[in-house]
Amino acid sequence: MATNEHKKLANTVKSFHESLRHLSQQEGAQKAWKEHLKQSGRLKEYANAMHQLAKIWEDNTTREGLLAKSRIKWTIEFCLAYFYTEHIYLEKRAREQRLLGSWFEFDCSQCHYMENVPEKIKVLDVGSCFNPFAKVPYFEVTSIDLCPATDDVLQGDFLNIQIKSMKNPKVGLENNVVNYLPAMYYECVIFSLLLEYMPTSEQRINCCCKAYELLKSEGILVIITPDSDHVGKNAALMKNWRYTLGCLGFMRIRFEKLPHITCLVFRKAIDSRVPERWSILHKESYMDLSIEIPQDSKTKKVAASFGEKGKT
Ligand SMILES: C[S@@+](CC[C@H](N)C(=O)[O-])C[C@H]1O[C@@H](n2cnc3c(N)ncnc32)[C@H](O)[C@@H]1O
Repeated sequence: MATNEHKKLANTVKSFHESLRHLSQQEGAQKAWKEHLKQSGRLKEYANAMHQLAKIWEDNTTREGLLAKSRIKWTIEFCLAYFYTEHIYLEKRAREQRLLGSWFEFDCSQCHYMENVPEKIKVLDVGSCFNPFAKVPYFEVTSIDLCPATDDVLQGDFLNIQIKSMKNPKVGLENNVVNYLPAMYYECVIFSLLLEYMPTSEQRINCCCKAYELLKSEGILVIITPDSDHVGKNAALMKNWRYTLGCLGFMRIRFEKLPHITCLVFRKAIDSRVPERWSILHKESYMDLSIEIPQDSKTKKVAASFGEKGKT
């Protein structure tokens, strides 16, 4: 049972997302985003609310009888299995090689492999808020957020951060704000409840393209998205995500629906032609290059009804 405090925090977060969506609808995405970034007081209020909510959620995951599952533990366990204990990356590599064989006659001239499994996984946690992965012993974490809730998170707007190829990779800081990140440096990028914050599909695609540039070959993008519906309700949206990320060079390698969240993992394929071909072959008539979330259709309906009212 949610307490009053819990409900209050959840409302702060929800209404914050709604007002950004509304602003974006009214002013256009770019202008709205610029205005949004200026609202430092509201951003701070949101960061504190999100931090407290996450603590309550994590607490609930350890209580018997509650369905809550930890997105943090799920992510850590998958990374461990992928790189170290189950070597999932090898299984997925072999699958891509098989597909390369049947679609491109084993032409491996464009293939890139992870050179060796790192001692510590270089993780970029985007929209980190409170640095939940900081203490994982086999992670070396860079965490960024628009408005960090804790001091160990770097401030930065991922949508506007540049990505640079560098001989000596480093995070570029100016006045303590991240302005560039090293290309093809990370083994894992995490978007935990990040994409839903962005009001438009274009902004979400921008984030995924950036993740692709930042990852090494065979690195993974972990996406955790909120979803309290049953697994079938958003199946078409999820298939469209898979199609779109395929067009960007990612193979989906894990899909798991847990109570209230869906956990997805996309892998930067050894050769981007493999996921691209996969997407072409599996494209259904309703699919397009977009990353939509259920709230988008509500926004469209509201906008349409305002449009109708405006005509009368
Ligand atoms: C719903 S919270 C999720 C926090 C945390 N990852 C978790 O799973 O609990 C979304 C976070 O993304 C951050 N965020 C949204 N857009 C961002 C951007 N363009 N760059 C960096 N952080 C962003 C917000 O400030 C917020 O802290």
